[in-house]
Amino acid sequence: MSRVVSGIRPTGKLHLGNYFGAVNSFLKMQEEHECFFFIADIHSLTTHPAPSDLHSNVKQVLAEHLAMGVDPEKCALFIQSDVKAIAELYTYMNMNAYLGELERSTSFKEKIRSQKDNVNAGLLTYPVLMAVDILAHHADFVPVGKDQQQHLEMTRTFANRFNHMYGNTYFNEPKAYSNTGKLIKVPGLTAQGKMSKSSGDADTIVFDEEDQVIRKKIMRAVTDNGPTEPGMLKSEGLQNLFDIMNLVSDKSTIAHFEELHQTAQIRYGDLKKQIAEDVLKFVAPIREKINHYKNDSKALAIAAKIGAEKANESANKTLQEVRGIIGFKNFYK
Ligand code: TYM
Repeated sequence: MSRVVSGIRPTGKLHLGNYFGAVNSFLKMQEEHECFFFIADIHSLTTHPAPSDLHSNVKQVLAEHLAMGVDPEKCALFIQSDVKAIAELYTYMNMNAYLGELERSTSFKEKIRSQKDNVNAGLLTYPVLMAVDILAHHADFVPVGKDQQQHLEMTRTFANRFNHMYGNTYFNEPKAYSNTGKLIKVPGLTAQGKMSKSSGDADTIVFDEEDQVIRKKIMRAVTDNGPTEPGMLKSEGLQNLFDIMNLVSDKSTIAHFEELHQTAQIRYGDLKKQIAEDVLKFVAPIREKINHYKNDSKALAIAAKIGAEKANESANKTLQEVRGIIGFKNFYK
């Protein structure tokens, strides 16, 4: 049985990118492997959330995991800050992560641009914390979207460097995983690349949102003026809509709209209406469950408690072993 670790930052409600990039793979992995899935609340501190927002966001994302089918009986579903060994391991791992490589990380460069007034040290060492999340449980696989690929490479670098420094093979090399066989990038609605909260509200299709809000966002998605002759290439915005359709619509519907595009007969209004209906069919039952779990404090508490117990047991073992490898010895025991 392999070990699997993944996390999601609680910076808002989950969107289709989170689902198809990560959660969908969690559902498969929890059936077959030893899984650790967590709400990365320490990571979210880089954006300085107000304490009350931090808590409500964690609650939201925990309820969303349960609603989407992550089962606390089958995996460890936990809150990152409940596992204190992570913060200690982070301190140790920071000693062999170098400034140059951290500055070169794509996500750090993006953050320097997007949050110029808050370029804190946590942003710089974000990949180290993420590596620790993964290495604390000796993960073989990490189900993530394509945007996390570089962080996984850095995790392998830190793991190998630790092994080399101490002359052992303590950490194994975790691999990124997707149950589709290929890491996924779900595009956003505003033709700015991947679906992302940081690209603005209009970019994301969020599970816990009213039908009419979802419909409106899709109807306003960025496209182009329409094909003027058969066989034209798709613009970025249009390709994005087809990519989203590929996730939620059935094959015959997709083929129908592909054909209309190929023959330059497509009407974007019809395409968007179809996508909106198929998205809503997919989202609505999950949204109902989110509402149920948000009001079920007992289910949330039980899930977080058993998750924390399982994750602490695993991370504390790693912490003790790492302390031993580093050479910390106790004088008074
Ligand atoms: P985060 O919170 O940005 O995203 C959570 C998960 O959703 C995936 N994802 C996407 N996948 C495809 N298309 C998209 N548009 C899209 N948007 C988001 C992400 O790839 C991710 O899998 N650093 C991580 C959280 C983290 C973590 C970890 C992940 C912390 N520690 C350890 C794995 C292992 C992050 O910010 O994800």
